[in-house]
Amino acid sequence: MKDHHYRYPGSVLVHIFKNLRVFRRGMGFAILRTLMLAPLPWLFRLIIDTHVATANIPALLVTALIVVGLLFLHYAFAVAGASEISRENGRLMLRLRSDIFNKLHFLAFGYLDRQKTGRLLSKYAFDTQRIEMITMQLINQFVPQMLYSLTLSTVLVLMHWQLALLLLALVPIYGFTHSLFHRRLKQRQRQTRLAQERLTGAASEAINALRLVRSFGEEDQVTENIDQFSYRLTHSRFNVTVLNTMFNAFAHTMVQLFTLLSLAGGAYFAIRGAITMGTLFAFMAALPVVLSPVQMITGLIEQYYVAQEGYFSVKELLDSTYVEDWQGTREIKSMTGRLTFEAVSFAYPQTDIQVLKQFTLEIAAGSHVALVGPSGSGKSTVAQLVLGLYKPQEGRILVDGIPQADLSMRWLRQQSAVVLQDILLFSGTVADNIRFAQPNASDEQVREAARMANADQFISELSKGYETIVGERGVMISGGQRQRLSIARAILRNPRLLILDEATSALDYESEHLVQEALLRVATGRTVITIAHRLSTIRAADWIVVMRQGRIIEQDTYSELAQQDGLFADLLRMQNEPAG
Ligand SMILES: Nc1ncnc2c1ncn2[C@@H]1O[C@H](COP(=O)(O)OP(=O)(O)O)[C@@H](O)[C@H]1O
Ligand SMILES: [Mg+2]
Repeated sequence: MKDHHYRYPGSVLVHIFKNLRVFRRGMGFAILRTLMLAPLPWLFRLIIDTHVATANIPALLVTALIVVGLLFLHYAFAVAGASEISRENGRLMLRLRSDIFNKLHFLAFGYLDRQKTGRLLSKYAFDTQRIEMITMQLINQFVPQMLYSLTLSTVLVLMHWQLALLLLALVPIYGFTHSLFHRRLKQRQRQTRLAQERLTGAASEAINALRLVRSFGEEDQVTENIDQFSYRLTHSRFNVTVLNTMFNAFAHTMVQLFTLLSLAGGAYFAIRGAITMGTLFAFMAALPVVLSPVQMITGLIEQYYVAQEGYFSVKELLDSTYVEDWQGTREIKSMTGRLTFEAVSFAYPQTDIQVLKQFTLEIAAGSHVALVGPSGSGKSTVAQLVLGLYKPQEGRILVDGIPQADLSMRWLRQQSAVVLQDILLFSGTVADNIRFAQPNASDEQVREAARMANADQFISELSKGYETIVGERGVMISGGQRQRLSIARAILRNPRLLILDEATSALDYESEHLVQEALLRVATGRTVITIAHRLSTIRAADWIVVMRQGRIIEQDTYSELAQQDGLFADLLRMQNEPAG
């Protein structure tokens, strides 16, 4: 389960190479586009050595027309290739993004709890884009240019191999000096990526907390904090830019030097009569093309390292071994909802505080059990363990006598419904939000669920009723209304197992009473676990379990516990609830 010493996977180039098949059509066009330019040096030499020498203007025109035709074809193939490659690349990225999201669905919460949303978002949105960009650059620009350069080099060798060799010998020298920059560029690019992830993480947290921050008047503190992350990113970007500038200037100078050297070499051969002026001209015209991949590398190198970092970051997520390791496949024919906790002990991953200690409890099928106790006593943890969001280190949980490990966890979750304290609404209509629990429910079923949750009334008072947009960019609805929506969502699912974690805590007395009524109605025929702070809400429970510090300290019926002189009776007194 440990991946502290995560080893970075192969390069983004390997990734592209493995997917090269995807680009076969686009690469086909790239080859055609290159072939169109291959005869150019010969044609140039023909013009100078033959047509100029013989003053043959019609032949000159014909040759020029051939050049124009080749250039036109080159252009057409280039356009066709580029659009093909970008389509193919798009499909590749779709798959990568979908892989990332799919992975998120499987990662264990022990891992996700420690990830900042902004960081994950950065992987999903930006890193994939970086990979997309470099792939496009490499396949659509670099590879064709490389082909072009190789083709012309071959042509030059055929024309005059000595001069061609002189020219080509300079390429590795350039490559070597250039590699000296590599390591430092790579290192700085990693620092930049990490700085960016930290900044997006911190910024997304701060943006979510804007209301809180302003309410406290603590804007300065937050701004200062964010500015520090921002400064670190700018600083690493600056380092990268400086290094790149140095590198580019260096590369440019080298290319100038090359040109001079080949001109001198070519002039030498021309003076000796070894080559014609036409050949010299063809060499000089081809030189920029031969060198272009090398020059292109200098332009690409920064983007490459950016993409490489993006790729590492994405792979780190995709290769993470912190996945939920439920392997079971069993589904229970007619699940009754009997739950058994056998000496369950649990600590959240990466912590060593035992949140549950030897928790043993039997919840009869179709019964209504309430968990009460001070906050932090482990009540919500029990609920999360039932749904398999975490795995106990010791002991086990059984459903209808079958251990969790044997069950298909997704199936079990689909038989259950939870209402949590902090309710999440998706961007969408009210109806969409309720329907989330059962995507194919009819409008009438949605309405019925809302009526049972006592939400129908306030929904009809919204401007567009069930079609009102809520969620991130929708209308604001109160905490109590959210809770009733999420109860409607749970009711619509018609679950075997219903978990209400402080589900009515945000309701005022009046609506709480109505929702309680509704919950009682839906509670029949299924197992219900109610977690509640306010003891008034659990009077109807068949059985009450009192927890403290991860242990059960009392359990009995409401009236029995109220008579005893234990924690429950104390809690009742503190909340001014009548005993019995
Ligand atoms: N995701 C988590 N990671 C680490 N510790 C957690 C996490 N969730 C809860 N805890 C800790 O577990 C203990 C029990 O929490 P919880 O089950 O939420 O209590 P309750 O619902 O009874 O208030 C608390 O001490 C809390 O700090
Ligand atoms: Mg809780």
